[in-house]
Amino acid sequence: MDTTTTYLGLKLENPIIVGAGPLTRDPAAVRRCAEAGAGAVVLPSLFEERIARETATLSESFFSQEAMHTEVFGYLESHVEMQYGARDYLEMLRKSKQSVEIPVIASLNCVTSKYWQEFAREIEAAGADALELNIGIMPDQVEVDGRQVEAQALAILAAARAAVRLPLAVKIGANFSSLPATVAQMAAQGADACVLCNRFWTPAIDIEKQRIIVAKPGSANQELGPVLRLVSLLADRTKAQICANTGIHSGADIVRTLLAGATAAQVVTAPLLQGLHRIGDMLDELKGWMQRSDYSAIEDFRGKLSQTRNPEQTLFSRTQYMGALATRPN
Ligand SMILES: Cc1cc2nc3c(=O)[nH]c(=O)nc-3n(C[C@H](O)[C@H](O)[C@H](O)COP(=O)(O)O)c2cc1C
Repeated sequence: MDTTTTYLGLKLENPIIVGAGPLTRDPAAVRRCAEAGAGAVVLPSLFEERIARETATLSESFFSQEAMHTEVFGYLESHVEMQYGARDYLEMLRKSKQSVEIPVIASLNCVTSKYWQEFAREIEAAGADALELNIGIMPDQVEVDGRQVEAQALAILAAARAAVRLPLAVKIGANFSSLPATVAQMAAQGADACVLCNRFWTPAIDIEKQRIIVAKPGSANQELGPVLRLVSLLADRTKAQICANTGIHSGADIVRTLLAGATAAQVVTAPLLQGLHRIGDMLDELKGWMQRSDYSAIEDFRGKLSQTRNPEQTLFSRTQYMGALATRPN
């Protein structure tokens, strides 16, 4: 059974990547992910603000214990601790590389194209196999329109492309007015892969305390639907590979992302909340499904349900929605 996939020019034993977050927080954790069967890991993001020595986006005061659900505090606390300085990050990267055979992808959280180019070069020199740009722009000003946001995202990509020769993945949220067009532009400007989609933490409101709190982190499985739609629409449409992310909670979900056309899939919530053994379970489920379906390699079925391979299908477009409404029983 050949579960290998080539993502960002790197040969992965399987398409399950542990995404950026607490599960890859240090070399020992990275090793545990590899032992659990991950095909690759993405290290947590180093925040641009750290490099610029400005205030961290995620400051301790923002994450005061009072302001959030208690069960969430542990994750966030560890995440705040994970806000490495730039030197620590490089050290963590080097040691992680030494401790595993699987590809180690570094991650930078960027909101501008300044400050971090030199650091990106140091990441390359420290031996990262690839760089994932976690583009963290969250539009929050009425004066800034969509074109400016897109231009800023593309400027971040251009700065990274100019800085390093490493394979580059761009991790973006779904909040672009035409995400397909944005992905196409990114592919044309040197993104080797797009990770669709980042999941930004959202606020919640505690009505008893009448306060804004940080919602429970971690995705729900239902969040996968919109991701599958985008993967299917964009797979093999541009030069950029598509890595699926958000709401992937089982081996069946991994199969779904591959059928839609993803080259790889990133998981965080499932192994974080249920244990790292979920990675091995997902891999077993993938292999079991391949066996039942008579596939001996991922390339035999990857993209079978993508829009490119099914141009006559409108599975993921508006007409499908209209059709579903039209056939709805009274
Ligand atoms: C506690 C926590 C910390 C995270 N830290 C990062 C990070 O540093 N960089 C990043 O790009 N994504 C980060 N993420 C987002 C995940 O990598 C992933 O995109 C998101 O959780 C959706 O995947 P999932 O549905 O499998 O959880 C974090 C997620 C969680 C829950």
